[in-house]
Amino acid sequence: MSALFGVSLTVVYISFTRSLNQLLDQELLTLAQAAAPSLETVKAEGLQDFHKNLPWHSLFEREQGLEWFNAEGKLVAREGTTFPNFSLSKYISPLHLKRGSPLLQQQDGVHTLTISVFSENSHSNKLRLEGYIRASESTEETEAALRKFQLGLGLGGIMALILSSITSIWLTQMVLEPMQQSFRRLKQFTADASHELRTPLTAINIATEVMQSHPERIHPLDAKKLVAVASATKQLTCLADDLLFLARTDSATVPLERQWISVPLDELLQDLVELFEPQAQAKGITITSNLRRRLFTKGDTEKLLRLFSNLLENALKYTPPGGSVILSLAKHKRFVIITIEDSGMGIASEHLPFIFQRFWRADKARSQLIEGSGLGLAIAQTIAQQHKGKVTVISQVGVGSCFQVCLPAA
Ligand SMILES: Nc1ncnc2c1ncn2[C@@H]1O[C@H](COP(=O)(O)OP(=O)(O)OP(=O)(O)O)[C@@H](O)[C@H]1O
Ligand SMILES: [Mg+2]
Repeated sequence: MSALFGVSLTVVYISFTRSLNQLLDQELLTLAQAAAPSLETVKAEGLQDFHKNLPWHSLFEREQGLEWFNAEGKLVAREGTTFPNFSLSKYISPLHLKRGSPLLQQQDGVHTLTISVFSENSHSNKLRLEGYIRASESTEETEAALRKFQLGLGLGGIMALILSSITSIWLTQMVLEPMQQSFRRLKQFTADASHELRTPLTAINIATEVMQSHPERIHPLDAKKLVAVASATKQLTCLADDLLFLARTDSATVPLERQWISVPLDELLQDLVELFEPQAQAKGITITSNLRRRLFTKGDTEKLLRLFSNLLENALKYTPPGGSVILSLAKHKRFVIITIEDSGMGIASEHLPFIFQRFWRADKARSQLIEGSGLGLAIAQTIAQQHKGKVTVISQVGVGSCFQVCLPAA
């Protein structure tokens, strides 16, 4: 838009300059033509007696000058205030002037127009060159007008640009507002729905737990169904929790740092290893941890726990029995690096760009009926970013994956 605007300003400027020059030429031509009939008399008698009744005399007011030349281009007389500092004979081109077009020149702030004057021989009907009239005017006035115009154009251009920018921002906001509103409503709906789901889910959970604690009261045919209900309820509770977490994070406006504390990462990870140990043992996976250094980061303990448990849970979930998971903690420059490495199924390189997207799951994970909703890594990355860090991954199908969390050291 600004390029288009620039082009139109240039066009306006060029056409203004052209009309200003045309006006100046027209003025000088009128002056020279008015003086042309006097050339013969001025050549013979000079200007002395001529002064009083010169019809073009009033034109000299505006820093103009008139010069009379004979046919050889020699100056005969001059009148006025402004003259060029170049001689006519040097530049004159009679052939050019004979055709009736005036000669225009501009040098050192003086604009000149020269015409040739002819007289007709009454006997032979032939034209004879009598001489030349050169009318001049200082370009100061034109240049001042141009400067004013440039200033006006520049200021007007800036104003118009500001106005059009404000208008386009306003228009964009007007167009985007309904979309943003519906997006906000959608996020609010997700948060409300997830929140509302929690109460009935807790009730179902408690009811199934109570029923499972009295197996004698359950019909043997219903026992399996009850296990399925318990598992589905657990899954739904996790999904509702994850959705609520993401919806709340999306709409969070208060800076979170105020509630942050110094978190000892070695302790936090050690607690997690102990928490996941039974699950690993049950699946025949060995967890090795290398958490010898005492390293801290500033943050929210609950959220950091959630970040690492999501990664650890994945490592155990996507590693077949007999595999291994290695957890390590190190410091690099001003950052703490937490590595969770597994010898699991790995992630294909073409899938790596999608794994942090919400609800994305590899076909392999779906086809092997591994439980999950595809929100774990999205949550992990959101938490890492909230803590001014990030999660990265390198992986090879059939070999394993290595997730790295980089957080600022405290
Ligand atoms: N350690 C891993 N090894 C192999 N694939 C993984 C690993 N971690 C994640 N993935 C792949 O990335 C996908 C997304 O992971 P994410 O943790 O977001 O979802 P999920 O584990 O499927 O479900 P949940 O929301 O319960 O965590 C997984 O479905 C899986 O395909
Ligand atoms: Mg997961």
